[in-house]
Amino acid sequence: MSAVAHIPVMLQEVTECLAIPLGGRALDLTLGLGGHAEALLSKADDSVRYLGVERDGEARSIVLQRLGSDKRLSVIAARYEDVWEAAEYGDWMKRYAPDGFDVIFADLGVSGLQLKSPKRGFSFMTEGPLDMRMDQSKGITALEWLEKQSEATLAETLRKYGEERASRRIARAILKSLEDGKLSATLDLANAVYKVHPREGAARKKQTDPATRTFQAIRIAVNCELSGLGKTIERAASALKPRGRIGIISFHSLEDRIVKQTLRRLAGIYDGPGRESPGALPKLLELISPGGIAPLEAERNSNPPSRSARMRLAQRVPCKT
Ligand SMILES: C[S@@+](CC[C@H](N)C(=O)[O-])C[C@H]1O[C@@H](n2cnc3c(N)ncnc32)[C@H](O)[C@@H]1O
Repeated sequence: MSAVAHIPVMLQEVTECLAIPLGGRALDLTLGLGGHAEALLSKADDSVRYLGVERDGEARSIVLQRLGSDKRLSVIAARYEDVWEAAEYGDWMKRYAPDGFDVIFADLGVSGLQLKSPKRGFSFMTEGPLDMRMDQSKGITALEWLEKQSEATLAETLRKYGEERASRRIARAILKSLEDGKLSATLDLANAVYKVHPREGAARKKQTDPATRTFQAIRIAVNCELSGLGKTIERAASALKPRGRIGIISFHSLEDRIVKQTLRRLAGIYDGPGRESPGALPKLLELISPGGIAPLEAERNSNPPSRSARMRLAQRVPCKT
């Protein structure tokens, strides 16, 4: 599978808002196939250094084939929530960025490579094993995860991570298919959902495929996608140089809510129930785009997966606190 398997979103906005200054240091927490990295590096000078973090081995191989000859780029195999403690990260920081980063970027979620590759099991459109792991060298597959669920825990996951209103009924249909020995592949999972929400009805009303939310929810649970995001943003903010910038692109409301609330808290804004007390986080950031930035209409039309993207930007306050 080639690099066209993933079209990087909001490329123009990313290269304009997160341009790496002369001799700057950049951290990409979700390197993927390196589409954003390539664009940012193409506008940067030779003394820039770019550190990419990626948990998916297949993506790392492709990015190294594509961009490995660029000596400014280093790639670390890690989850962004763990990278801060990795020895490789510590060595790289000591060598190249003792004062921190000028730019930190994350483009959350799954890549086109993962979604379009049937063998990865992320898609309800093609037959494949029920895997859905971003890092296929570790953890349990979606099928193994489903086998551990009760109707209540599965319904709760579908509701929480998929915002699925028919979570109970869908959970029951999935577990029934599992019990009947009819759930081993992606299309079996999709068909279990269609028993509750027929696909044809949604297609007639031009609604999104009824399996979308279920696949999203299970993928988020299998990869523990949301649990470390807030803490990662806090770590990233403290790794920025004064006036260094952070930009994060999210693709659904659950991610965006965490990004928005964490950036706001780091900017000293506490605006909802359940927030920690105002003294709980040091004020490290200033918001650049309080409402976030969405792709332009031309991009939304030419690359439909970009439609749900939103980038939030902030800048480290001038003096370290
Ligand atoms: C939307 S893609 C990024 C695409 C990339 N910007 C490009 O232009 O090719 C998200 C990538 O982040 C990776 N990823 C998701 N969660 C991660 C995590 N916790 N740690 C490290 N990588 C992660 C996924 O494996 C995927 O390759």
